[in-house]
Amino acid sequence: MQLQGKTFIVTGGASGLGAATTRELVDNGANVVIADLNEEKGQALASELGQAAQFVRCDVTSSDEVQQAVDTAEKEFGELYGSVNCAGIVVVQKLLDRENNPADLDKFAKGVQVNLVGTFNVARLVAASIAKRVAAAGGVDNPESNTDQGVIINTASIAAFDGQVGQGSYASSKAGVVGLTLPLARELARHGIRVMTVAPGIFNTPMMQSLPEKAKVQLESSVPYPKRLGSPQEFAQLICHIISNAYLNGEVIRLDGAIRMV
Ligand SMILES: NC(=O)c1ccc[n+]([C@@H]2O[C@H](COP(=O)([O-])OP(=O)(O)OC[C@H]3O[C@@H](n4cnc5c(N)ncnc54)[C@H](O)[C@@H]3O)[C@@H](O)[C@H]2O)c1
Repeated sequence: MQLQGKTFIVTGGASGLGAATTRELVDNGANVVIADLNEEKGQALASELGQAAQFVRCDVTSSDEVQQAVDTAEKEFGELYGSVNCAGIVVVQKLLDRENNPADLDKFAKGVQVNLVGTFNVARLVAASIAKRVAAAGGVDNPESNTDQGVIINTASIAAFDGQVGQGSYASSKAGVVGLTLPLARELARHGIRVMTVAPGIFNTPMMQSLPEKAKVQLESSVPYPKRLGSPQEFAQLICHIISNAYLNGEVIRLDGAIRMV
């Protein structure tokens, strides 16, 4: 799919991987609705990017607020062609604490709610918008004609495969995002909509900047090559490639410098 003139929703688009994706999409001629909880950063980025970007304050776990982001995309830019779901939170909690008390169940559920249920919520409302547009235009009569009508890209994590102690909520929520990829791709094929997931390794974003310097240096040295954290722009470049390459579908791509967490 050509990026020029197409509209995408980027959740978590106010910061880190989502902000870099928003910039890269706009640089390539696309329009972006930045859907994020962080109004200050989201508004600032939208103002900086001008007419091609709109900010909508949105919690990905809310049906109404995600629908509002979809409505804004349709109203401001005409037609929606997909989403890049970067909204996510890190939850760190062991199953048992030092005194062997059990983990807080609400804390576990919060990670799953934002990272997995939020991803599903965005996918379903974006897919509905695209499918309705496709149906109104007469449907995808001939799937063999390679008509690429939309792309939904989700963000998992290498924690989905290499989860660490304390990552029960985070790793299982991201494994859920991996598990969503193929069934959604199969279901949406008849509408000409592709579904892909990116599983990033360790990227230099505000999420990571909260780590102590010593921990960051240790993480960098554990990446085989290149021996550094990933840059958000490298993530954004992959997103643009996935959108433009119509044969990428139903797959999870690790973007991680070959790191395998042990
Ligand atoms: N940075 C990394 O190393 C790394 C590695 C693997 C996976 N990831 C994943 O990539 C995604 C982006 O991470 P990042 O490093 O850019 O983080 P970040 O904290 O810089 O950005 C996340 C954004 O999501 C927004 N957000 C959080 N909860 C939300 C909600 N309920 N509704 C809407 N927006 C919400 C935040 O306001 C923030 O702007 C996350 O899903 C994260 O789990 C990041």
